[in-house]
Amino acid sequence: MKMGSFRDSGLPRSGTSASIRGHDGYAHQAPRFPPSRPSTPMLAVAVLAAGKGTRMKSDRPKVLQPLAGATLVERVLASCRHLAPQRQLLIVGHQAERVEASLAALAGLEFVLQQPQNGTGHAVQQLLGPLEGFSGELLVLNGDVPLLRPETLERLLERHRSCGAAVTLLTARLADPSGYGRVFADAEGQVSGIVEHRDCSEEQRRNTLINAGIYCFDWPRLAEVLPRLSSDNDQGELYLTDTVAMLSPAVHLEVADADEINGINDRLQLAQCEAVLQERLRRHWMAQGVTFTDPASCTLSEASRFGRDVVVEPQCHFRGASVIGDGCRIGPGCLIENSTLAAGVTVLYSVLRDSSVAEGCQVGPFAQLRAGARLEADCRIGNFVEVKNSTLAAGVKANHLSYLGDADLGANVNVGAGTITANFDGVRKHRTVIGAASKTGANSVLVAPISLGQGVTVAAGSTLTQDVPDGALAFGRARQVIKPNYRPSAAG
Ligand code: UD1
Ligand code: MG
Repeated sequence: MKMGSFRDSGLPRSGTSASIRGHDGYAHQAPRFPPSRPSTPMLAVAVLAAGKGTRMKSDRPKVLQPLAGATLVERVLASCRHLAPQRQLLIVGHQAERVEASLAALAGLEFVLQQPQNGTGHAVQQLLGPLEGFSGELLVLNGDVPLLRPETLERLLERHRSCGAAVTLLTARLADPSGYGRVFADAEGQVSGIVEHRDCSEEQRRNTLINAGIYCFDWPRLAEVLPRLSSDNDQGELYLTDTVAMLSPAVHLEVADADEINGINDRLQLAQCEAVLQERLRRHWMAQGVTFTDPASCTLSEASRFGRDVVVEPQCHFRGASVIGDGCRIGPGCLIENSTLAAGVTVLYSVLRDSSVAEGCQVGPFAQLRAGARLEADCRIGNFVEVKNSTLAAGVKANHLSYLGDADLGANVNVGAGTITANFDGVRKHRTVIGAASKTGANSVLVAPISLGQGVTVAAGSTLTQDVPDGALAFGRARQVIKPNYRPSAAG
């Protein structure tokens, strides 16, 4: 909608939406239109994800920017999954292959190519072919609005249905509406049009009711008006927002929590959304009985789970699908990714990835558990110890300066400071087996493949290349030689 069309179309001079906010936080307007659809109509969802995201200044398509471990487009798709739509269409264009590849694991997605990318209206025009013959509701979601709550979409559909509307859009009142399209609506919630920020007059910019970029359309009716869009606007693009003035009834649902409809166009907004999401996650887990001693310094992934009475000290970061058992104490200073910790584990200043840690283990300070590290109950892994692809049976202690890679350690093995499993021969990796109750001396090198029996003692400073039977003491070092009176006398 171009600037001049404000007066031509008879839009009000500012958005006025006298609304009552219910206890559920949503603005309610009395529905003016009787319910017209007794049974649940067919539902299609289209996500707009073809844009380049110029303002992001990135080589990565905007919808693939990550937010708390998931991309923007993954989040948008997740927000509507519970609605079980009959069709799910993703409009791709800029780096389409990359966007498609990132979603290859999701079933039932139809990719629709928009080439070139001539605006959000042009994007939805690409659905005219794929949705030919479809009759029902079309939920259109901007691919860069990732914080939507699933319940909000439900409410949007409810409102759309109860009003028998041709289009229902999600709106919010923002103290700083700059950048967003302004929605012009009357006191009863009827929308007469949307004007993009850059096309607004000074007067129109004072309207703080903004378009969230989330719409429910009646499909046959939208399909009729889509071909009528014009690019007579500041960007010379076809705007989806212009269809709203062509459809009647057009109504809106105002969300109380404006954070939910944050659109991401640049890095600042990306950081702001990350902050909102992190705050949501921390609040959720605090309500479930987790203590954060410095919440703002910690970040969580959505897929991570925490038990009761977990204490998270400052500067801890949880990524992927980590599970932290009851009563664990984590931090300060930990990164835990895709790892499972049973009850009562302590981790201090350490990095854990793709690992599992059983009850009562103590890890750190300054330890690293890499992929496939499996610690059974009550193990202790101390400073500068790295464990990879290894199983440590209950009660193993490796307290200082060691590398345990591709190894199997029996119960109660004591790993001396500086013990190294030399697992790589330059071509292949080999395993080290250490039987229960064995003890390696300080600075031992175990050259794999090698197997030490139970109750073995390895002398400090040994390099072992051969298997050692149960109960033996193994030396693999030069004997100490003493040359008395070696130092020549100064007098000569
Ligand atoms: C859009 C809305 C604006 C609203 C805001 C909410 C329009 C014209 N404006 O503005 O009213 O307040 O969202 O965040 O719709 N896209 C395509 N193809 C294109 C262009 C964009 O698929 O040709 C996709 C983008 O990838 C993005 C979404 O559409 O996911 C929105 O595009 P964007 O350029 O960010 O629109 P805004 O300027 O934010
Ligand atoms: Mg945007």
